Amino acid sequence: MAATPNILVIHGPNLNLLGTREPDIYGHATLADIDGDLAAQAGALGCSVESYQSNHEGELIDRIQAAMGSSQGILINPGGLTHSSVSLRDALAATGLPVLEVHLSNVFAREPFRHQSFVSGIAVGVISGLGARGYGVGLEALVAHIRG
Ligand code: DQA
Repeated sequence: MAATPNILVIHGPNLNLLGTREPDIYGHATLADIDGDLAAQAGALGCSVESYQSNHEGELIDRIQAAMGSSQGILINPGGLTHSSVSLRDALAATGLPVLEVHLSNVFAREPFRHQSFVSGIAVGVISGLGARGYGVGLEALVAHIRG
């Protein structure tokens, strides 16, 4: 196992709009705020992070495939693809890497169609409803999982 695990952070569709997107649901932190906090936290945890956002399913899948051999874990908020994408789930599973799923909102307190996740079944854990703080909690938990 790598002494300094590299964590791929994946942000799915519409998360580029954080800060202005339905702030009553998703909060006021921007994606740059979240990525900046994760980068700072990575130093303290002794890991490195690479963040990637796309609104395109195929681009997300390409980036996830590229993590094989270069990352030791994946922290992902799949956005709406959580509830629709078998292909995204298959790509994550194909890497063989531990996956930690994060949602800003509590998807279980929202519309019924958000209660199903295609990702949760292959994730080591799920954090939902802690807002931007959930990413930091997720990173710490994922690194601890990797270190065993
Ligand atoms: C989300 C929840 C999803 O249902 C939604 O489609 C998103 C964001 C969250 O972070 O709460 O885009 O993943």
